[in-house]
Amino acid sequence: MKKTMHAMVGVVLSFFVVGAVSAGDVASLRGASDLTTKAVKTKKAKLEKVSGGFERTWAEQPPMVPHEVDKYRISIKNNGCLKCHGAKTYEKEKSPKVGDSHFLTRDDKRLEKVSSRRWFCTQCHAPQMSLTPLVSNTFETVGRSK
Ligand code: HEC
Ligand code: HEC
Repeated sequence: MKKTMHAMVGVVLSFFVVGAVSAGDVASLRGASDLTTKAVKTKKAKLEKVSGGFERTWAEQPPMVPHEVDKYRISIKNNGCLKCHGAKTYEKEKSPKVGDSHFLTRDDKRLEKVSSRRWFCTQCHAPQMSLTPLVSNTFETVGRSK
C-alpha cells in the first residue's frame, strides 16, 4: 500500500513539472503565444476564382472547385451543385457535367441519377483560397492538364 502511495505522489508531481514548461518553449504554427491568449487574427482569405478551372495533377484527381461553394446546399434530398452540373442542367447552365464515373454504383451499374457514392460533392471537390502555405513544400505536378 505504501509503495502505491509513493508511486501516486510521483505521478502527481510529474504533472506539475510538465505543466511548468511555458508555451513559449513550444514551437508551433500558431506562434509563441500562450494557449490562453487569443491568436492573432489572420487576414480573411480570398477564394480563388479561376476561369477555365485548375490544372489537374493526375487523371483520377477530383478537379478542384474554381468558384464559391458556400451558397450551395447539399442535403439528402437536394443538391445545389447539380442545379448546374447535373446531366439535365449542365447544357443550359453552361457548366461542366459531372464525371461519367459519378453515375456508377459500386458494382459498375450505370444509373440515371448521380450515384449516392458521389452525392456529397465537397467530400472530394475542394475550393481553394489564395494563401501562403503554413509549411512550404517542393511538390511539383507531373503536369497533366485536362
Ligand atoms: C451556378 C452554377 C454552378 C453551381 C451551382 C455550381 N457550379 Fe461548379 N462550376 C460552374 C461553372 C460554370 C464551372 C466552370 C468554370 C470554368 O471552368 O471557368 C464550374 C466548375 C466546377 C468544377 C471544376 C471542373 C473541372 O473540370 O475543372 C468543379 C469540381 C465544380 N464546379 C464543383 C462544384 C460543386 C462541388 C458545387 C456545389 C458545392 C458546384 N460546383 C456548384 C457552375 C456551377
Ligand atoms: C468520391 C469522390 C467524388 C465525389 C463525392 C464527387 N466527385 Fe466529381 N469527380 C471525382 C473525380 C475522381 C473526378 C475526375 C475523374 C472522373 O471524372 O471520375 C471528378 C470529376 C468531376 C467533374 C469534371 C468532369 C469532367 O468530365 O471533367 C465535375 C464537374 C464534378 N466531378 C462535379 C461533381 C459534383 C457536382 C459532385 C456532387 C454531385 C461530385 N463531383 C461528387 C470525384 C468525386
